[in-house]
Amino acid sequence: MKPIISPSILSANFAYLANDIEMLNSSEADWVHIDIMDGVFVPNISFGFPVLKYVAKLSEKPLDVHLMIVQPGKFIPEVKALGAHVMNVHYEACPHLHRVIQQIREAGMQPAVTINPATPVAMLKDIINDVYMVLIMGVNPGFGGQKFIEHTVEKVRELRELITVAGSQALIEVDGGVNLEAGVRLVEAGADALVAGNAVFSASDPEEAIRALKNL
Ligand code: DX5
Ligand code: ZN
Repeated sequence: MKPIISPSILSANFAYLANDIEMLNSSEADWVHIDIMDGVFVPNISFGFPVLKYVAKLSEKPLDVHLMIVQPGKFIPEVKALGAHVMNVHYEACPHLHRVIQQIREAGMQPAVTINPATPVAMLKDIINDVYMVLIMGVNPGFGGQKFIEHTVEKVRELRELITVAGSQALIEVDGGVNLEAGVRLVEAGADALVAGNAVFSASDPEEAIRALKNL
Protein backbone atom coordinates (compact mmCIF):
# COMPACT_ATOMS: atom_id res chain seq x y z
CA MET A 1 0.00 0.00 0.00
CA LYS A 2 1.28 3.46 -0.91
CA PRO A 3 1.36 5.86 2.05
CA ILE A 4 -0.96 8.85 2.33
CA ILE A 5 1.20 11.94 1.76
CA SER A 6 0.33 15.11 3.67
CA PRO A 7 2.73 17.98 2.83
CA SER A 8 2.97 20.58 5.61
CA ILE A 9 2.53 24.15 4.39
CA LEU A 10 4.45 25.38 7.44
CA SER A 11 7.48 25.21 5.12
CA ALA A 12 5.70 26.88 2.17
CA ASN A 13 6.51 30.39 0.94
CA PHE A 14 3.86 32.45 2.76
CA ALA A 15 4.42 35.43 0.45
CA TYR A 16 3.25 33.27 -2.47
CA LEU A 17 1.08 30.76 -0.66
CA ALA A 18 -1.37 30.42 -3.56
CA ASN A 19 1.43 29.13 -5.82
CA ASP A 20 2.30 26.42 -3.31
CA ILE A 21 -1.34 25.39 -2.83
CA GLU A 22 -1.76 25.14 -6.61
CA MET A 23 1.40 23.02 -6.80
CA LEU A 24 -0.13 20.69 -4.17
CA ASN A 25 -3.40 20.56 -6.12
CA SER A 26 -1.61 19.23 -9.17
CA SER A 27 0.71 16.92 -7.21
CA GLU A 28 0.29 13.38 -5.89
CA ALA A 29 -0.31 14.76 -2.37
CA ASP A 30 -3.34 13.19 -0.71
CA TRP A 31 -3.94 15.78 2.00
CA VAL A 32 -2.63 19.22 3.00
CA HIS A 33 -1.18 19.34 6.51
CA ILE A 34 -1.97 22.56 8.41
CA ASP A 35 0.06 23.38 11.54
CA ILE A 36 -1.64 25.79 13.91
CA MET A 37 0.53 27.02 16.83
CA ASP A 38 -0.27 29.31 19.73
CA GLY A 39 3.09 30.19 21.31
CA VAL A 40 1.89 28.52 24.54
CA PHE A 41 1.62 24.79 23.88
CA VAL A 42 4.64 25.12 21.57
CA PRO A 43 7.31 27.85 21.51
CA ASN A 44 6.24 29.29 18.15
CA ILE A 45 3.26 30.89 16.40
CA SER A 46 2.37 29.95 12.82
CA PHE A 47 -0.86 31.14 11.21
CA GLY A 48 -4.49 31.32 12.17
CA PHE A 49 -8.00 31.09 10.75
CA PRO A 50 -8.06 34.38 8.75
CA VAL A 51 -5.17 33.04 6.63
CA LEU A 52 -6.45 29.46 6.53
CA LYS A 53 -9.81 30.58 5.18
CA TYR A 54 -8.05 31.35 1.87
CA VAL A 55 -5.95 28.18 1.97
CA ALA A 56 -9.16 26.16 2.36
CA LYS A 57 -10.75 28.01 -0.56
CA LEU A 58 -7.83 27.23 -2.89
CA SER A 59 -7.03 23.68 -1.81
CA GLU A 60 -8.57 20.83 -3.78
CA LYS A 61 -7.08 18.32 -1.30
CA PRO A 62 -8.60 17.39 2.07
CA LEU A 63 -7.18 19.36 5.01
CA ASP A 64 -5.30 17.53 7.77
CA VAL A 65 -5.38 20.12 10.55
CA HIS A 66 -2.84 19.75 13.39
CA LEU A 67 -3.54 21.97 16.39
CA MET A 68 -0.50 22.65 18.56
CA ILE A 69 -2.48 24.80 20.98
CA VAL A 70 -3.86 24.58 24.50
CA GLN A 71 -7.60 23.80 24.77
CA PRO A 72 -7.98 22.75 21.11
CA GLY A 73 -11.60 21.75 21.78
CA LYS A 74 -12.50 25.45 21.88
CA PHE A 75 -11.76 25.75 18.16
CA ILE A 76 -13.86 22.89 16.79
CA PRO A 77 -16.31 25.30 15.06
CA GLU A 78 -13.45 27.24 13.39
CA VAL A 79 -11.77 24.06 12.13
CA LYS A 80 -15.13 22.77 10.94
CA ALA A 81 -15.70 26.05 9.05
CA LEU A 82 -12.51 25.34 7.07
CA GLY A 83 -14.13 22.13 5.87
CA ALA A 84 -11.32 20.08 7.44
CA HIS A 85 -11.19 16.33 6.89
CA VAL A 86 -9.09 15.52 9.98
CA MET A 87 -8.74 17.48 13.23
CA ASN A 88 -5.61 16.44 15.18
CA VAL A 89 -5.44 17.41 18.85
CA HIS A 90 -2.54 16.72 21.20
CA TYR A 91 -2.92 14.15 23.95
CA GLU A 92 -0.81 16.45 26.14
CA ALA A 93 -3.21 19.39 25.59
CA CYS A 94 -6.45 17.54 26.44
CA PRO A 95 -7.21 16.44 30.00
CA HIS A 96 -10.66 15.38 28.70
CA LEU A 97 -9.50 13.80 25.47
CA HIS A 98 -12.44 11.41 25.17
CA ARG A 99 -14.91 14.29 25.26
CA VAL A 100 -12.97 16.31 22.66
CA ILE A 101 -12.79 13.29 20.34
CA GLN A 102 -16.57 12.84 20.54
CA GLN A 103 -17.14 16.56 19.89
CA ILE A 104 -14.93 16.49 16.80
CA ARG A 105 -16.87 13.50 15.47
CA GLU A 106 -20.23 15.13 16.25
CA ALA A 107 -19.05 18.17 14.28
CA GLY A 108 -18.62 15.91 11.25
CA MET A 109 -14.81 15.69 11.15
CA GLN A 110 -12.46 12.76 11.63
CA PRO A 111 -10.82 12.91 15.08
CA ALA A 112 -7.10 12.24 15.48
CA VAL A 113 -4.89 12.28 18.55
CA THR A 114 -1.26 13.39 18.41
CA ILE A 115 1.51 12.33 20.80
CA ASN A 116 4.79 14.14 21.48
CA PRO A 117 8.12 12.26 21.46
CA ALA A 118 8.05 11.91 25.28
CA THR A 119 4.54 10.44 25.42
CA PRO A 120 4.39 6.62 25.37
CA VAL A 121 2.18 4.85 22.84
CA ALA A 122 0.62 2.90 25.75
CA MET A 123 -1.26 6.07 26.83
CA LEU A 124 -3.51 5.58 23.78
CA LYS A 125 -4.87 2.20 24.84
CA ASP A 126 -8.23 3.47 26.11
CA ILE A 127 -8.89 5.79 23.15
CA ILE A 128 -7.62 3.71 20.23
CA ASN A 129 -11.08 2.48 19.20
CA ASP A 130 -12.49 6.03 19.15
CA VAL A 131 -10.04 7.75 16.83
CA TYR A 132 -9.72 7.87 13.05
CA MET A 133 -5.97 8.35 13.29
CA VAL A 134 -3.02 8.66 15.66
CA LEU A 135 -0.30 11.16 14.78
CA ILE A 136 3.13 10.31 16.19
CA MET A 137 5.51 13.26 16.33
CA GLY A 138 8.98 12.57 14.93
CA VAL A 139 10.29 15.82 16.46
CA ASN A 140 9.28 18.07 19.34
CA PRO A 141 6.54 20.18 17.75
CA GLY A 142 6.94 23.88 17.00
CA PHE A 143 9.27 24.14 14.03
CA GLY A 144 9.79 22.68 10.58
CA GLY A 145 13.12 21.32 9.40
CA GLN A 146 14.18 19.54 12.60
CA LYS A 147 16.09 16.29 12.80
CA PHE A 148 14.05 13.07 12.93
CA ILE A 149 14.10 11.31 16.32
CA GLU A 150 15.03 7.68 15.60
CA HIS A 151 12.94 6.19 18.42
CA THR A 152 9.83 7.21 16.43
CA VAL A 153 10.20 4.10 14.23
CA GLU A 154 9.94 1.86 17.28
CA LYS A 155 6.87 3.80 18.46
CA VAL A 156 5.16 3.16 15.10
CA ARG A 157 5.83 -0.56 15.52
CA GLU A 158 4.38 -0.49 19.05
CA LEU A 159 1.32 1.42 17.89
CA ARG A 160 0.72 -1.01 15.02
CA GLU A 161 0.73 -3.80 17.59
CA LEU A 162 -1.67 -1.91 19.92
CA ILE A 163 -4.06 -1.26 17.01
CA THR A 164 -4.00 -4.91 15.92
CA VAL A 165 -4.63 -6.23 19.44
CA ALA A 166 -7.51 -3.76 19.97
CA GLY A 167 -9.07 -4.53 16.58
CA SER A 168 -8.99 -0.78 15.84
CA GLN A 169 -9.18 0.76 12.35
CA ALA A 170 -7.02 3.76 13.36
CA LEU A 171 -4.52 5.05 10.82
CA ILE A 172 -0.95 5.87 11.85
CA GLU A 173 0.52 9.19 10.69
CA VAL A 174 4.04 10.46 11.40
CA ASP A 175 4.98 14.15 11.44
CA GLY A 176 8.37 15.82 11.83
CA GLY A 177 11.73 15.22 10.24
CA VAL A 178 10.30 12.84 7.65
CA ASN A 179 12.40 12.40 4.52
CA LEU A 180 12.71 9.55 2.01
CA GLU A 181 15.09 7.56 4.16
CA ALA A 182 12.98 7.78 7.35
CA GLY A 183 9.81 7.36 5.28
CA VAL A 184 10.82 3.91 4.02
CA ARG A 185 11.45 2.68 7.55
CA LEU A 186 8.27 4.25 8.94
CA VAL A 187 6.08 2.61 6.30
CA GLU A 188 7.83 -0.70 6.88
CA ALA A 189 7.09 -0.31 10.63
CA GLY A 190 3.38 0.26 9.91
CA ALA A 191 2.82 3.95 9.16
CA ASP A 192 -0.12 4.76 6.86
CA ALA A 193 0.45 8.50 6.40
CA LEU A 194 3.53 10.72 6.22
CA VAL A 195 3.68 14.47 6.83
CA ALA A 196 6.58 16.29 5.16
CA GLY A 197 7.39 19.99 5.29
CA ASN A 198 11.04 20.63 4.66
CA ALA A 199 11.51 17.50 2.53
CA VAL A 200 8.91 18.85 0.09
CA PHE A 201 9.23 22.63 0.11
CA SER A 202 13.03 22.82 0.30
CA ALA A 203 13.40 20.41 -2.62
CA SER A 204 14.39 21.86 -5.98
CA ASP A 205 11.30 20.15 -7.42
CA PRO A 206 8.62 19.89 -4.69
CA GLU A 207 6.18 17.97 -6.91
CA GLU A 208 8.85 15.39 -7.62
CA ALA A 209 9.66 15.18 -3.88
CA ILE A 210 5.99 14.38 -3.20
CA ARG A 211 5.99 11.75 -5.95
CA ALA A 212 9.11 10.14 -4.46
CA LEU A 213 7.53 9.95 -1.00
CA LYS A 214 4.32 8.53 -2.44
CA ASN A 215 6.27 5.83 -4.29
CA LEU A 216 8.81 4.94 -1.58
C1 DX5 B 1 6.18 20.53 13.55
C2 DX5 B 1 4.96 20.45 12.67
C3 DX5 B 1 5.24 19.71 11.43
C4 DX5 B 1 6.28 20.34 10.55
C5 DX5 B 1 6.97 19.25 9.82
O1 DX5 B 1 5.85 21.14 14.72
O2 DX5 B 1 3.91 19.79 13.32
O3 DX5 B 1 4.06 19.44 10.69
O4 DX5 B 1 5.75 21.26 9.63
O5 DX5 B 1 8.02 19.79 9.11
P1 DX5 B 1 9.29 18.94 8.72
O6 DX5 B 1 8.81 17.86 7.80
O7 DX5 B 1 10.15 19.94 8.05
O8 DX5 B 1 9.87 18.38 9.99
ZN1 ZN C 1 2.19 19.02 12.03
